[in-house]
Amino acid sequence: LGVAAWRPDGLVGQTGEVLRSTARLPSPFTVPLPIPAVKRPVRTDATTDYYELVQREASVEILPGLKTKIFGYDGTFPGPTIESRSGRRIVVRHRNELPVPTAVHLHGGHTPAEHDGHAIDLLLPEGVTNAQTFSHGMVGKVTTGEREYDYPSKQRAATLWYHDHRMDFTAPQVYRGLAGFQLVRDDDEAALPLPEGERDVPLMIVDRSFDEDGTFLYPSVDSTLKLERGVLPAYMEGVLGDVVLVNGAPWPVLEVDAARYRFRLLNASNARRFRLALESSSGDSVPFTQIGSDGGLLERPVTQERLDIASGERFDVVVDFSQLPVGTTVTLANQLGESPSTSRVMRFVVARKAADDSNVPAQLSRIERLDPAKAVRTRDWFFNRGELVAHSGDHNGWTINSATYDPQRIDAAPKLGDIEIWRFGSDLHHPVHVHLDPFQVLARGGHDPGPYDVGWKDTVDVRPSEYVEVLVRFTDYLGPYLMHCHNLEHEDMAMMATFQTS
Ligand code: C2O
Ligand code: CU
Repeated sequence: LGVAAWRPDGLVGQTGEVLRSTARLPSPFTVPLPIPAVKRPVRTDATTDYYELVQREASVEILPGLKTKIFGYDGTFPGPTIESRSGRRIVVRHRNELPVPTAVHLHGGHTPAEHDGHAIDLLLPEGVTNAQTFSHGMVGKVTTGEREYDYPSKQRAATLWYHDHRMDFTAPQVYRGLAGFQLVRDDDEAALPLPEGERDVPLMIVDRSFDEDGTFLYPSVDSTLKLERGVLPAYMEGVLGDVVLVNGAPWPVLEVDAARYRFRLLNASNARRFRLALESSSGDSVPFTQIGSDGGLLERPVTQERLDIASGERFDVVVDFSQLPVGTTVTLANQLGESPSTSRVMRFVVARKAADDSNVPAQLSRIERLDPAKAVRTRDWFFNRGELVAHSGDHNGWTINSATYDPQRIDAAPKLGDIEIWRFGSDLHHPVHVHLDPFQVLARGGHDPGPYDVGWKDTVDVRPSEYVEVLVRFTDYLGPYLMHCHNLEHEDMAMMATFQTS
């Protein structure tokens, strides 16, 4: 498929149907913001920290007075935060006590392939041995009960997240709660005077919908051991909820000191994209100072009045509350919300004056520029709606270069160390994510990169009828690895490809 064969279909913006909650919802900005617990290693030695997580069902209070059944790492949503040190190995033992197979992917991790949470490398529940039952015969390395994921962490400080990646069922399993933060820290970052401790706050933003009794609404029938593939056709654009959760709480509120805070923004929604902006009750304009992107610190801070964030992306920002009078409220708004409920995310309330010796230095880090003149080849990747299946009215899902995902097929074979240009084209919005190593955006729509493309990225939102060119260079580990659309319903409906590093 070449450029000429590709035709935009003209659909723009947020697509997909919003599932309507019937549960009683709280007033916005009344539930306190939870901070996910930081996981303690069960043991450490000279080189390695060892962790143990249990994937299990739990009933948790998300909406006040109601219980929601979740799938959670350690029974929590978000899962516990794992903090690691660049260069220090981490081994995470996962036990699967859920009624479904899982696969754990560390998003943004520079991870050997066998530990990358490949979509067909399944961790089956205890006592289940026949993997075929679950996976249409498409199985990779299968383990039953528990297994270890081994992360060398040879990468710079960055905000990573781990989430489920089971083939065809990533969307419902992440929706039910299988997502958590993993923060990599390093000495260069620690030497900077950035806000830290309680003023370094991860914020996982998602949309969800709730049935009357508090149950998550999700339009599929996969929940236990059934075999239905994918979601109902009406939702193939992506499932959208009408409640915004931050760290698992609906439109929460956080009391802050009049000081600088670092927020690690993650959009872990299945399909929703946000345009985030800060609105203060005092009329002061409060910008974001972006200090990092998916792959860690930028070279220099960038002032952003708003931030477009698609599923899978992270923006590391500093917000300065120090000049605001005590009592000021600052609302994190979503300018792309289609209703009042999805137009707000959370609120900060400046609660007290406080000492603050943090700062955002003009130079944050150094980033090696990948040189497009050194690129050895260009690959085109077109993210398109699939074909209609004759007579059925059905789609064959979503495609990359006209092909639906097939785990047996290798779609590209880049050599380790080579610089390549990958050109992503798109019919609609598709947030494109590449495993193993981050990339640098070279051009968007034939022009310079956009305002949100700065730094090392591992997920980039390709907009309707647009090309985004990125420079990739894979290092260290032999494939296979995945690249895919991070709209999780698109991913489950086959918008995924395999590259084999060698
Ligand atoms: Cu966040 Cu391949 O995924
Ligand atoms: Cu997509």
